[in-house]
Amino acid sequence: MKFFIDTANLNEIKEAYELGVLDGVTTNPSLMAKEGITGEQNILKHYVDICNIVDGDVSAEVIAVDFEGMIREGEILAALHKNIVVKIPMTLEGIKAIKYFSSKKIRTNCTLIFSAGQALLAAKAGASYVSPFIGRLDDISTNGLDLIAQIRQIYNNYTYDTEILAASVRHPMHIINCAEIGADVMTGPLSAMKALAKHPLTDLGLQQFLADYAKGNV
Ligand code: G3P
Repeated sequence: MKFFIDTANLNEIKEAYELGVLDGVTTNPSLMAKEGITGEQNILKHYVDICNIVDGDVSAEVIAVDFEGMIREGEILAALHKNIVVKIPMTLEGIKAIKYFSSKKIRTNCTLIFSAGQALLAAKAGASYVSPFIGRLDDISTNGLDLIAQIRQIYNNYTYDTEILAASVRHPMHIINCAEIGADVMTGPLSAMKALAKHPLTDLGLQQFLADYAKGNV
């Protein structure tokens, strides 16, 4: 399973990349705003900065909600760097835009997926990725992982190349469960990736090894 980091924070992206396990980055307008990145030119430059850190796909989201606007913005985003994937919201206009980009060999990530039907539609339009938001489904007492499993089954039944990018991942168990189900990618915070390394028995074992070594090497 590929690991993407879900942030626009350059320091966190660098830290995750230096760990050696980062395969890409996802962003959205809220994550950009959180970093104080505003204005079209600054936002475009920030995407290039991210692409210069990570050797992997970087999702960059359109703001327009109409087909023509999405095409205009998406073409500008795609021209920034070969690793940019144009992120398009799950709407009927978005589906048309995904179909258009697919015919132009421009890769897309269909975002704000909350149902299997939406994921099926996006795959039929030729999306490179679909992003089901599992944490936000959990927030409303609906099992987000069940959606990942349902989409996995549907895609396995046919020959869709669309990759399932589990998004709105919040904690390490989400990552493990997504891997068990067979999501192609997960995108989440650096804290959740780092938490995978932690186990109290590992800490205790290491402490003991170091103590025993020190006893014999005084
Ligand atoms: O990848 C989607 C993500 O940015 C949404 O995450 O935690 O705001 O639901 P969250």
